[in-house]
Amino acid sequence: MTTLDAALSGTFAIGGDLKVVRLGFGAMRITGRGIWGPPENPEEAKATLRRLPELNVDFVDTAESYGPYVSEELIGEVLAPYAQGTIIATKSGLTRTGPDQWHQLGRPEFLRQGAIQSLRRLKLDVIDLWQLHRIESGTPREDQFGAIAQMQQDGLIRHVGLSEVSVADIKEASTYFKVTTVQNMYNLVNRRAEDVLDYCEANGIGFIPWRPIDGGNLESTSAEFKAIMDKHGASASQLALAWMLKRSPVMLPIPGTGKVKHLEENVAAAAIKLSDDDFATLDRIGRKG
Ligand SMILES: NC(=O)c1ccc[n+]([C@@H]2O[C@H](COP(=O)([O-])OP(=O)(O)OC[C@H]3O[C@@H](n4cnc5c(N)ncnc54)[C@H](OP(=O)(O)O)[C@@H]3O)[C@@H](O)[C@H]2O)c1
Repeated sequence: MTTLDAALSGTFAIGGDLKVVRLGFGAMRITGRGIWGPPENPEEAKATLRRLPELNVDFVDTAESYGPYVSEELIGEVLAPYAQGTIIATKSGLTRTGPDQWHQLGRPEFLRQGAIQSLRRLKLDVIDLWQLHRIESGTPREDQFGAIAQMQQDGLIRHVGLSEVSVADIKEASTYFKVTTVQNMYNLVNRRAEDVLDYCEANGIGFIPWRPIDGGNLESTSAEFKAIMDKHGASASQLALAWMLKRSPVMLPIPGTGKVKHLEENVAAAAIKLSDDDFATLDRIGRKG
């Protein structure tokens, strides 16, 4: 029988003091088409959230812009009061005008309002990990980073993360506040953020790869890949997650789904232990895309 225990992925302490099970959950997919409005099947989305603590998934990534608000509202409705140790990481810095429409907005008052409203929707007193969804180019960086530092001093947010940033961005932001996580697109076949991951590992920063299973589109691409799938009785997505977990101890994958079955399949990847040879083979195949 497949073992369903996210804790098999090990733990990481965000900012040195916020311990999470490394295999987390991305809550962008518990919304409607185009990440807009309510999910097509709200009961299934709620059941997916309810299943998280049962599977020892205690790290949930969301954002005010998912829905917008829908993802945070569902999390607050289903998971609050939170099981001991559950960490909800949210984000602000994007505004929405319709399905699949996203606009960057980093004005200090928008970021602060976002954090205050996330607290209400998530039914929290403090946001354990608040992430800047994007550094906006139209607002001075010192205004954005300064506003975040102020929110932290005011006790609205505990730890700060960034999303879709370069190493230079992390270094610049670090002069305003401690950067504890970075969330960039990264998966077996998309390795553009490799330098950022290496920097995070060297500096004890949690790296949260978004789109970790490439949107559920990964397939066996060769006989070598298929052989490793057969050996572990695993899907391509499960191997991709196992590969990621072995790639770095600071890796915190957040596969996203609104379906219990898919959540369970993703959590099963925590039990897969790849040999060094299998890891190297997947790495080589993945680099080819
Ligand atoms: N920082 C950023 O800019 C940013 C951007 C995008 C996403 N994110 C975060 O990263 C998380 C993950 O990214 P993502 O959701 O875009 O990509 P992903 O986790 O790579 O893939 C999710 C997609 O794959 C499907 N899926 C999930 N598990 C599956 C399974 N076992 N078998 C088959 N299909 C499966 C899901 O559909 P079903 O719902 O039908 O299962 C969904 O369409 C998001 O939830 C969000 O929290 C952050």
